[in-house]
Amino acid sequence: MIEAIIFDLDGVICSTDQYHYKAWKELADELDIPFDEKDNEKLRGVSRMESLDIILEKSSKKYLNDEKQAFAEKKNIIYQQYLNQMTVEDLPKEVMDTLQKLRNNGLKLAIGSSSKNTLLILKQIGLENFFDAISDGTMITYSKPHPEVFMKAADLLNVNYKHCLVVEDAVAGCIAAKSASMKVAAIASAYGNNVADFHLNCFKDLLIILNTIK
Ligand code: BG6
Ligand code: MG
Repeated sequence: MIEAIIFDLDGVICSTDQYHYKAWKELADELDIPFDEKDNEKLRGVSRMESLDIILEKSSKKYLNDEKQAFAEKKNIIYQQYLNQMTVEDLPKEVMDTLQKLRNNGLKLAIGSSSKNTLLILKQIGLENFFDAISDGTMITYSKPHPEVFMKAADLLNVNYKHCLVVEDAVAGCIAAKSASMKVAAIASAYGNNVADFHLNCFKDLLIILNTIK
């Protein structure tokens, strides 16, 4: 029986994943490091510093920690310029309608995101007061595929992990959910992976799969 749904944010609730890519691409171009959309897939669900390390694997140079901190900060400034332009229009109606229906069905709803920009994004799209719990990159030591962010969300909701369903667009996030003994529904980039329990063609399909889970 599912009592709570924990949503990843970037690429699930809204399309901020495209802004992550644009911002990293700008940095990678400046550093003359090859980086394309395929490389970007490896960064889904992964923390900012770990994402940078993955990008720098293709660099011929070795960078000091201070330099890496400065690169990550620079990427975040570019990324936040995109976030600051977001409005409630960037929350798809299908997502909002589905969230409302899930809540009306008595489910607890939470965010489980590796992002330290979670609160800014939720504010931009008008959802800062909507969720029953928010677990984000500012509260965790280990990012996905470690389950910490989802365990924290379930703990905040006071729901047993086995009664949680996670919605994810990252394979790392699907692995994280499974290692916390949660059910997981994959969407978008994660669709079709062999870790998830369910695969969503679109967000509102959540309403259908919930009926199939006992
Ligand atoms: C995740 C994204 O939600 O957040 C990753 O999928 C990103 O791509 C991570 O690196 C950290 O985000 P932020 O906003 O703290 O840099
Ligand atoms: Mg995501």
